Amino acid sequence: MSVRHFLDLSDAGADAIKRMIDEARARKSARTDWPKGRPDADAPLAGHTLAMIFEKNSTRTRVSFDMAMRQLGGTSLIMEAGSMQLGRGESIADTARVLSRMVDAIMIRTDDHAKVEEMARHATVPVINGLTDRSHPCQIVADLLTIMEHGKPLEGLELAWFGDGNNVLHSILEAAGLMRFNVRCAVPEGFAPSDEFLAFAREHGARIDVVTDARAAAQDADILVTDTWVSMGQTEADEKIAAMQPYQVNAGLIAYAKSDAGFLHCLPAHVGDEVTKDIFESEQSWVWDEAENRLHAQKSILLWALGQL
Ligand code: CP
Ligand code: NVA
Repeated sequence: MSVRHFLDLSDAGADAIKRMIDEARARKSARTDWPKGRPDADAPLAGHTLAMIFEKNSTRTRVSFDMAMRQLGGTSLIMEAGSMQLGRGESIADTARVLSRMVDAIMIRTDDHAKVEEMARHATVPVINGLTDRSHPCQIVADLLTIMEHGKPLEGLELAWFGDGNNVLHSILEAAGLMRFNVRCAVPEGFAPSDEFLAFAREHGARIDVVTDARAAAQDADILVTDTWVSMGQTEADEKIAAMQPYQVNAGLIAYAKSDAGFLHCLPAHVGDEVTKDIFESEQSWVWDEAENRLHAQKSILLWALGQL
């Protein structure tokens, strides 16, 4: 079997993503009320180690992968790129070859997607994309799990995105193509998602609308999603913040959606900017389930990457 890298959702494909979601639900329910550090009964990754490399900040990705490895019976190493030789100019290729001799899988969070691709080209163990400027596939496995757990089937789902056409939206569009749901992207002029992801979703049969009218996107939506207006590594620009104001998720906007619509945000949130406090803290906000589900989703991603799913 060739090495299973997870740089984007298409590397796994629709069938494997369905299996990941089913596995995550099963493992989550099997350990209800257990201490969080206790390994799952079958400890399927006993003896395995994951190395994580961070070139950008992280709370959820870092802790969820670490706890995922513990719950699967394995261990993990967390490294800040700046404290590695990588931070002094050792190449990604050499880093990949060395780590492949010592650990069973590598997760990397970095700025430039090309670095993750370079890591995968040279690693002989699975490489997992923990977020790049281009995409955030691990987040979206957790998001799909959250949507399904809340009783919304993916088939025919109408998901509305508000704000910046960023890395998280790219992975949502990729998921829409693979899992066949529809996305309305309400984004200001100049902040649309990349043509590549729009084309992928449409070619795979998803209905994708890119509009500037936030209310039109919210109309009868099942799920409303937003993210920070300024992603890590971007310079905060007053013009961008100004352009984003009409895309704030607030009570006026959510009123256009279905009455049982859910709100998702990958976090960290800037409450008062992309979402108001009343919506963020409301019953319709599923963000804490979404954050917890990063852990359950990572376990499935790791099992898939290591050939056990
Ligand atoms: N959503 C997410 O990736 O969170 P962190 O940046 O905290 O990892
Ligand atoms: N779009 C955000 C997501 C953070 C999890 C960023 O890249 O900073």
